[in-house]
Amino acid sequence: MRRHHRTTPRPRTPRLPRLLGTLLLVASAGVLTAGSAPAASAAPVPLDRIIPAPAEVTPGATPYRITAGTRIRVDDDPEVRRVGEYLAGILRPSTGYPLPVTTTGAAGILLRLAPGPYGTEGYRLDSDASRVTLTAATPAGLFHAVQTLRQLLPPAVEKDTVQPGPWEVAGGTITDRPRYGYRGAMLDVARHFLTVDQVKRYIDQLALYKINTLHLHLSDDQGWRIAVGSWPRLATYGGSTQVGGGPGGHYTKDDYREIVRYASSRFLQVVPEIDMPGHTNAALASYAELNCDGVAPPLYTGTKVGFSSLCVPKDITYDFVDDVIREIAELTPGPYLHIGGDEAHSTSHEDYVAFMDRVQPLVARHGKTVIGWHQLTGATPAPGALAQYWGLDTTAPAEKEQVVRAAKNGTGLILSPADRIYLDMKYDKNTRLGLAWAGYVEVQRSYDWDPGTYLPGAPASAIKGVEAPMWTETLQASADLEYMAFPRLPGAAELGWSPASTHDWDTYKVRLAAQAPRWDALGITYHRSPQVPWPAL
Ligand code: ACM
Repeated sequence: MRRHHRTTPRPRTPRLPRLLGTLLLVASAGVLTAGSAPAASAAPVPLDRIIPAPAEVTPGATPYRITAGTRIRVDDDPEVRRVGEYLAGILRPSTGYPLPVTTTGAAGILLRLAPGPYGTEGYRLDSDASRVTLTAATPAGLFHAVQTLRQLLPPAVEKDTVQPGPWEVAGGTITDRPRYGYRGAMLDVARHFLTVDQVKRYIDQLALYKINTLHLHLSDDQGWRIAVGSWPRLATYGGSTQVGGGPGGHYTKDDYREIVRYASSRFLQVVPEIDMPGHTNAALASYAELNCDGVAPPLYTGTKVGFSSLCVPKDITYDFVDDVIREIAELTPGPYLHIGGDEAHSTSHEDYVAFMDRVQPLVARHGKTVIGWHQLTGATPAPGALAQYWGLDTTAPAEKEQVVRAAKNGTGLILSPADRIYLDMKYDKNTRLGLAWAGYVEVQRSYDWDPGTYLPGAPASAIKGVEAPMWTETLQASADLEYMAFPRLPGAAELGWSPASTHDWDTYKVRLAAQAPRWDALGITYHRSPQVPWPAL
């Protein structure tokens, strides 16, 4: 399989309708705060109307209303308090209420750690007239419960100026836990460099949908994006440009630590990827000695793939890989290190297998578990390694069988089928951004598949989760990323979290449409796919 790339011009359309909508909302908020109580507006959001769909819902009789006197009661635990403060940080600007976070009292919004059938990320939400109680076995579970609570409140809760309310949460009980432990999204910061602030903004969007993994594609032909002390030219020279010839950039170690810290504050782990042995022109350009012929190629700013390879027979290649893996592993608290391994079209099969045989033990030596794109199954995946499947419906049966065989032998799978959840694929022929080498991927196609049965023959226990990658050949601004991610990203999140029994396009598309005012309130650009019954602008 080969990616067919072309450079797409990036015309930017001013978002006048959204701006107009914002002005109208501001105007109506002014009217409402000028005296009249808001009309007994819409009933609260039903408990099952969120994304990802919760596992179990029991409606109750009376809603809970957040008022000026509401307190957020947390267990006396620093992490629970942090989740409580995070919730207060969302609610205070829009409600205008003080919402103190305290460890005493029994009414209001309660965050409680308690043993129960919640697993490491599940939770329970109980709502009645006097309190909303969020209960989980872990702070991560409470954090996901907070995301549920957010979506049960009116979209205006997301705004950063005071809004009229009322702030009601439907009565009843949600008991919820994820289907899969790995629910990821990838950002390609190599083709176009993304700033720390852009990455943080995306992390916040991922957290809203209970995604728990941020995979950073940190190196490719067009750029090396992380400082490595022992090989400094990787970042300073290899990171000095990007697709289209712009200035590129790289993360200092402190930048990367800040991304990891911020992700962790939203209960996401970071999976760093150094793609090899192919996709390595930026490294080969930075150090002549990494090339078999000892000659450094020029930096590359186009969008072709498959033309570069580390020099498999040279020992210095493994000194280089060992140094890079050691330094990145030291910065990364999570268990995984992604070694790429895709599209190594300039590496012979024998060399590819030999390379993976030498590199995977280096990852283990530095305390990490290997993830590789699914071509790794063409070599010998290390025990415990995960393979990330990025094939298409049309991928050759032999290639799928190779992946299934590895899964039967114990290799875990992360599912990222390119013609389903590659977020950089165009929605249709008119999409102004993105690529189309895997075809057009409209919202229903993106949502309407089952990770549990997607690769027939793969044992259910081998499926570790779902990840939605975002390649950035054509994407640069946050608005570009958001236009491609929304509305498809919430579908990927739901495939990773919700039980298969909740899967239904006709009800999903209604829940999805209801998210649009929330994206507007958050300033998220999105694609108004004709497949979704959006509220009128
Ligand atoms: C890939 O899209 N080359 C993983």
